[in-house]
Amino acid sequence: MDNKINCKIDNGISVGTAIGKVILIGEHSVVYGKPAIAVPFHAAKVKTTIYGRKGPVGIDCFYHKGPLTDAPRVIDGLTQVIKGIVHSFSEELEDFSISIESTIPPERGMGSSAAVAIATIRGLYDFFGRMLTHEELLKWANMSEKIVHGNPSGIDAAVISREKTLFYIKGEPFMPFEFNLNAYLIVGDTGRKGKTKDAVEGVRKYVETNPRKGKYYIEELERIAMEAKDSIESNDPERLGRLMTEAHIILDRLGVSDDGLNALVSKALDSGALGAKLTGGGKGGCMIALASNKEEADNISKSLLDSGAKNTWISRLGDDLVDK
Ligand code: MEV
Repeated sequence: MDNKINCKIDNGISVGTAIGKVILIGEHSVVYGKPAIAVPFHAAKVKTTIYGRKGPVGIDCFYHKGPLTDAPRVIDGLTQVIKGIVHSFSEELEDFSISIESTIPPERGMGSSAAVAIATIRGLYDFFGRMLTHEELLKWANMSEKIVHGNPSGIDAAVISREKTLFYIKGEPFMPFEFNLNAYLIVGDTGRKGKTKDAVEGVRKYVETNPRKGKYYIEELERIAMEAKDSIESNDPERLGRLMTEAHIILDRLGVSDDGLNALVSKALDSGALGAKLTGGGKGGCMIALASNKEEADNISKSLLDSGAKNTWISRLGDDLVDK
């Protein structure tokens, strides 16, 4: 059962929570069945509160405050999942309200849409007193992700629902992965919304119109992901850093980076990062950099903020989690 840790009922109020995620390596190529490595990102969280209130279902979130029936298209994924779950319980879509608070910046490649869906699914199952299996959680979360992103690999829902580092291959069972790396990760937010759906579609068009080069780039990303796994297992941050920068260059060639992301990646490298790259869908959103110790991570974070990053987070990597 999934939702015992992440939900609690208190006087008719149910709370579901979920964390963010960071893709270390393998975004985009993961859509083509290649491996990717993603880590849970505990520094950013979503909390969905569901409480009984007479009348039509209301929702209060980043994009909308009001009746669920008036919710904008941008939260269609969430709206459809809420309706689908309530329908599957043979309950009426009325007499409750949903409030979503999040510290995961939306549309920045940190898994906000999957985390919002997962926190809300957990909250709804709890509110209606139903047990939630991990399979059901993934089914609903991926339904939302399909509406939001078009053709998702499922990596966001997989890592956010498990809160474990994943060596992820689409359609394959969860692979235990020894995370053994003494290093710090810096996440830098460009402050601009990423465009995952457009970026995934852009890569698809690139691969279709340039089949030889497209195939080569996707296979290079596969090689990099395999080597990255090896470098983490052998605690080799320098090698992982080089691989991250290589991946960024390929992602840029595939058209999913932009000037703002490239500028922050260059700044991180000039400031002593072992490697840096965009993370998630790209075309805006966030980048990541690797540092060998906290002092270097602080320096890199400061340089990124001085160069226009809207926000940064520093996390220690290791023991399969990312901690603030
Ligand atoms: C989005 O977090 C990662 C992408 O690879 C898309 C996906 O895997 O669905 C860009």
